[in-house]
Amino acid sequence: MIQILRTIAALRAWRNGLPPDVRLGLVPTMGALHAGHMSLVDLAKARCDTVIASIFVNPLQFGPQEDLARYPRPIESDIAMLEAAGVDALFLPQPEDLYPADASTYVVEEAVSLPLCGALRPGHFRGVATVVLKLFNLTQPHLAFFGQKDAQQCAVIERMVRDLNVPTEIVRGAIVREPDGLALSSRNAYLDASHRAVAPLLHQSLVAARLAYEAGERDAARLAAIGRAVLAREPRIEVQYWEVRDRYSLAPLETVEADGCLLAVAAILGNTRLIDNLCLGTGTPGGLRFANER
Ligand code: PAJ
Repeated sequence: MIQILRTIAALRAWRNGLPPDVRLGLVPTMGALHAGHMSLVDLAKARCDTVIASIFVNPLQFGPQEDLARYPRPIESDIAMLEAAGVDALFLPQPEDLYPADASTYVVEEAVSLPLCGALRPGHFRGVATVVLKLFNLTQPHLAFFGQKDAQQCAVIERMVRDLNVPTEIVRGAIVREPDGLALSSRNAYLDASHRAVAPLLHQSLVAARLAYEAGERDAARLAAIGRAVLAREPRIEVQYWEVRDRYSLAPLETVEADGCLLAVAAILGNTRLIDNLCLGTGTPGGLRFANER
């Protein structure tokens, strides 16, 4: 049976009851679980003795104009999925439990959180880093699992863990996609049929740039132009950014080096914001491999 821990006190009691030599894995989520989340659960199950997931729609990482109120919360089916996957415990706190009314301490990363989504969503990564450090402090996991879908989020958390000496190993899982290439996201549920039909173009734009890279193109601006051109054909897609970046520092690149880089896109479709990315050179010598890729 999965243990449902609804309060900080219940979580601490559960954590204190674990044997000292147990290898604990944490999978933080905001719920509305799909196969992308579950791939992280599977990874955690494979690498850890005990696995705890969290579901918390973190108000601190949503901007005032964003989708906090309408974010999907299918909690009963989420619990059933975690239970079926063999997760040992679920932390399910309330906002008022996690954030005292006069809370005044936050985690602010000041380099990798600035470009891309950080520039478009002020305060977003401050909210993410703060809640993730709180979850780490409460859960004290040996490993924590994050999806490459949110590549910048991974970079911010890896930097935070390094800079603040957090004793948790961060493991990145590969992006899980629909058969047509659309990266799984809880926000895909917002797409109407017409926007859902064109949403795979985000992935296609990344693949077009990768094909050009594989054909020898190394100029970052030309790779970005190839990707943007795929999306420019579809007026229902409003591109927020389409960028070629260093996969670790997220600094802009002029030339793509032999060991590859990150292609990252964000776009608005109707009233839905989607992000996607692709690493060049994955699977090649020096290329980035994800924990669940062979
Ligand atoms: P959420 O969007 O629910 O995502 C939880 C985890 O699932 C993140 O690490 C995310 O990168 C991963 N994920 C989402 N879609 C994926 C996909 N298609 N393939 C692989 N992994 C995928 O990210 C958050 O929640 C929050 O910011 C959180 C870290 C929980 C802090 O509030």
